[in-house]
Amino acid sequence: MAVETQERPPVTDTTTALLPYEPQSAAAARRLVRTALRGWGLGDVVEAGELIVSELAGNAAKTGCRGSMAVTVERVTDRSVRISVRDSSRTLPCLIDAGPAAESGRGLALVHHLTGGHWGATAGPFGKTVYADLRARPAGPGPA
Ligand SMILES: Nc1ncnc2c1ncn2[C@@H]1O[C@H](COP(=O)(O)OP(=O)(O)O)[C@@H](O)[C@H]1O
Ligand SMILES: [Mg+2]
Repeated sequence: MAVETQERPPVTDTTTALLPYEPQSAAAARRLVRTALRGWGLGDVVEAGELIVSELAGNAAKTGCRGSMAVTVERVTDRSVRISVRDSSRTLPCLIDAGPAAESGRGLALVHHLTGGHWGATAGPFGKTVYADLRARPAGPGPA
């Protein structure tokens, strides 16, 4: 059994952007993630976070939905975040076993790799949310 020995303050920060279903929205999504992660002192996962949100927003842009996708970055603990993209399509994402010659089908495999498999999708009445949980290195003393 894990026993918490220290009181931790609840971590509740969250930031969301509504973006059009266009490939160009990936750049705005990366900016949102970059700004949030830097602001929370999680600079070591900025690159991974940008890659993840690019893939998720890029996939949402391909659904052909109208209106806006919602890109959210949520600080779950002091060292971990959830990046999610909600779209209005009820089709769920699926990991593709892309062969070496395939020109597509590697986006979610990359998300799977970067999160250690901690990603998924939740269906809702008006579509679904695809999320990815990213963990930063434990905070410790900086380099000597
Ligand atoms: N947001 C989404 N909505 C519906 N289907 C999705 C979504 N994201 C991924 N998918 C499905 O999962 C597949 C795999 O996604 P991905 O690995 O990113 O490959 P690619 O985008 O190159 O097809 C997609 O081809 C698509 O069929
Ligand atoms: Mg993709």
